[in-house]
Amino acid sequence: MKLISTGIPGLDEMLGGGIPKGHITVIIGPPGTGKSTLALQFIHTGLKKNENCTYLSLEEDEEDLIRTAASFQWNLKPYTENGKLALTRFSAHNIKATIDRVENDLQKILETFKPERFAMDPITLYEMIHDTDQERRTCLFHFTQMIKNIKTTAILTSEINPRNPNYSRYGLLEYVADGVILLKYIRPENSKTTVTAIEILKMRRISHSKETRPYTITQNGINVHSESEVFV
Ligand SMILES: Nc1ncnc2c1ncn2[C@@H]1O[C@H](COP(=O)(O)OP(=O)(O)OP(=O)(O)O)[C@@H](O)[C@H]1O
Ligand SMILES: [Mg+2]
Repeated sequence: MKLISTGIPGLDEMLGGGIPKGHITVIIGPPGTGKSTLALQFIHTGLKKNENCTYLSLEEDEEDLIRTAASFQWNLKPYTENGKLALTRFSAHNIKATIDRVENDLQKILETFKPERFAMDPITLYEMIHDTDQERRTCLFHFTQMIKNIKTTAILTSEINPRNPNYSRYGLLEYVADGVILLKYIRPENSKTTVTAIEILKMRRISHSKETRPYTITQNGINVHSESEVFV
């Protein structure tokens, strides 16, 4: 089985090399924990390996994404220009149009472009535009089938459930995904500062670390301290 390097120091070690090719992995975390950064870092890693990559944002437009990446010294411009990177934004304002774009436009983009890596940030906005869990479940099922069909390795970012930060907002993604990675804030006892920590909850078909490890976000992106422990 081929493993795809996330490009995030320390995370690949926790995974035993990387994410199995073709897997769909959900990154769940509260605001500001680095979900978008992780997704961008994953895509930038693929671009450096000359892979076709697609980044779909439901928040930031192309210019903003290029600026965000530049703040980590990742220069995306050459890749949008040479056609290795498709940066797309679907605004989630118009509900009907968004569902339509995900079901039709995205499918076309993925089928023509055949990206080896795909990131969607955040998928929560796509879940939110559905009225019931039943509709959400059906749409997620179709969406994940579409991604599976093109055999890309995908990262989907998700907001947490406000009542339980260990779960995605609607608690559905965990079941359709092959992998679940949790980002969280932890405040060690007697400490005035909060640390960010990462845990691999699930990754089908590989033996991965079950530990919770601290990570930092620097001007070079996310760095997981896979040898350090978090003391609570
Ligand atoms: N260029 C940078 N250099 C260092 N740290 C940065 C940089 N850019 C962002 N950060 C850190 O990363 C955090 C935000 O990361 P990111 O936007 O990836 O989080 P997120 O989980 O996607 O947040 P949200 O839920 O709001 O979408 C910032 O709060 C900041 O601490
Ligand atoms: Mg974000």
